Amino acid sequence: MKKPILKVALASALVFGAIGTQAVFAHPADVKQTLPVKVFDKKIVNEINAENIYNNIDYLSQNPRVAGTESEFNAVQYIKSQFESYGYETEIQPFTFYGYTPPSSMEVTIDGYEGELQPRSFTYSVNGDVSGELMYAGLGTADELEGADLTGKVALIQRGSISFAEKVLNAAEKGAAGVIIFNNADGPLSGTLGAHNEEYVPALALSKAEGEALLALLESGEDLTASLTIEGADAGERVSHNVIATKKPTNKKKANDDIIVVGSHHDSVAGAPGANDDASGTAMTLELARVFKDIPTDTEIRFMTFGAEELGLIGSFHYVDSLSEDEISRTIANFNLDMVGSKDAGDLVMWTLDGEENLVTELSQASSERLNGDPTPVYQGGRSDHVPFAEAGIPAALFIHSPTEPWYHSPEDTIDKISKEKLQDVAEIVGAAIYDKARFDNMGPKPKKQHKMKATPEMIYEEQVK
Ligand code: BES
Ligand code: ZN
Repeated sequence: MKKPILKVALASALVFGAIGTQAVFAHPADVKQTLPVKVFDKKIVNEINAENIYNNIDYLSQNPRVAGTESEFNAVQYIKSQFESYGYETEIQPFTFYGYTPPSSMEVTIDGYEGELQPRSFTYSVNGDVSGELMYAGLGTADELEGADLTGKVALIQRGSISFAEKVLNAAEKGAAGVIIFNNADGPLSGTLGAHNEEYVPALALSKAEGEALLALLESGEDLTASLTIEGADAGERVSHNVIATKKPTNKKKANDDIIVVGSHHDSVAGAPGANDDASGTAMTLELARVFKDIPTDTEIRFMTFGAEELGLIGSFHYVDSLSEDEISRTIANFNLDMVGSKDAGDLVMWTLDGEENLVTELSQASSERLNGDPTPVYQGGRSDHVPFAEAGIPAALFIHSPTEPWYHSPEDTIDKISKEKLQDVAEIVGAAIYDKARFDNMGPKPKKQHKMKATPEMIYEEQVK
């Protein structure tokens, strides 16, 4: 293998003074050393057009794309039609999961209380229209409720010590018709009951101030009647889809058996248009597929977008579970593009599940160094679709800008926060890295076999809120 030639990037050393007459040279120690961009890099880089990525983000981020909804399915159809317009055979891989649609309306009224209450539902709160005497039930632990009779009552319970689900189940077991849980910290309480359960009674959340006001009235000896209404919630089986466009090796005789997967998730959280999370990765996957379509490669490349990532990486786990042992051992790399275009986020980084380098990070550090003079740093992290690949022993990395933008998972994650420069930069680094391995005269690093590693729940999810 040829040794890379180090070249001083003179252009980056030139800084012009405000008046424009004086040239100031940076201190030699600040001058970056740039590896020459290879001819093969240019083949990819020159074709990547951030405008295409931007336009697809714009199209996809008109609405939230919650897994299992019509809007996610519309996105799936659009992604498939884009892949097909580039000439790919495209497969839609359906899978089912247990989902929850939040209530369309909810209300708490208390006879004998003047203030206005602004309840929130829990994920997996069940529908109902119940009323009964309001009764304080402390933290709602089994110990506290031993011997209590809550028959027909609405239990007022404070947050803390045990999960929301346990509080609801403990109160229900003592006969409660409904449950109100109030926060133990300032601000609204948005929580989850974790999973559907036939034993749940209608349960809503109030703020600390609201709960304490009700408690003060009860403690002063008032008799209060509470009514709780929840409508439109729906728990049940849902269908989501992965979209897979496959580029077979160009020349069967010179092909290897390897498979490279480039992926992203196309779903978003409720209420968020998900321009950056993750229409950006989806649109970048599409652009890389377009660019690679007519470029000869000796390696199979699968361009795919996953459904239901936001609900627990369900689509990517389904895809990896659907692979045969043979396909798993032939899959040498997973490039996971998730949140790759925000103006308001930091620099590009790569996350691997174990924090170690692997084929994906080696190829990408080499390409980023050739293109920009800096190798993209590697950190440890899960939280996205590279997790199932890494768990199966496949070298995998998440591409993301760090720190994350303030619009993450919010209604403000919109197209106006997207930077075309960032899109171009990440697509070039990833495109050049893939091509370094997949081109015919490949000289890239050899794949390393990884130890299988199981992600702990903490590596997949953030800590569960209690
Ligand atoms: N794109 C995020 C992951 C992410 C966000 C990584 C910020 C690093 C920084 C992803 O879509 C997501 O929100 N993941 C969930 C976990 C998943 C297992 C449901 C998360 O991080 O809460
Ligand atoms: Zn995401």
